[in-house]
Amino acid sequence: MYSEKVMDHFQNPRNVGEIENASGVGTVGNAKCGDIMRMYLDIDDKGVIQDVKFKTFGCGAAVATSSMATELVKGKTIQEALEVTNKAVMEALDGLPKVKVHCSLLAEEAIHAALWDYAEKHQIKIEGLDKPKSDISEEEEEEEY
Ligand code: FES
Repeated sequence: MYSEKVMDHFQNPRNVGEIENASGVGTVGNAKCGDIMRMYLDIDDKGVIQDVKFKTFGCGAAVATSSMATELVKGKTIQEALEVTNKAVMEALDGLPKVKVHCSLLAEEAIHAALWDYAEKHQIKIEGLDKPKSDISEEEEEEEY
């Protein structure tokens, strides 16, 4: 049911933890399943993501997708990180069962929320970034699987 990569990232998640005095912190939840994700980003003055950590109260698929998402945004610029969609994360994991696709949205949205927090703290606008929702369960219904 799950790919080897999903199992690997679930069993050995990368970048779990928190960053003290992070440049941006974002928390999102999904009211339907009750899962919560928090992302911490450390962004340098050139706008490059130097470090990223996550904490989740989420299912196995949420753990695996967040782990992969953190690997994909680490070392990237803010703009590049915005291109790391949940679809890109799922591809990198060799796919997810359909019923678990929504879990991958938690990671994407938490990264967006952390970038939003960073932008607010620095009073800048990040091109292409909309204000993230704190509960993504509504968005999920509009998602085309
Ligand atoms: Fe809620 Fe997976 S079931 S994130």
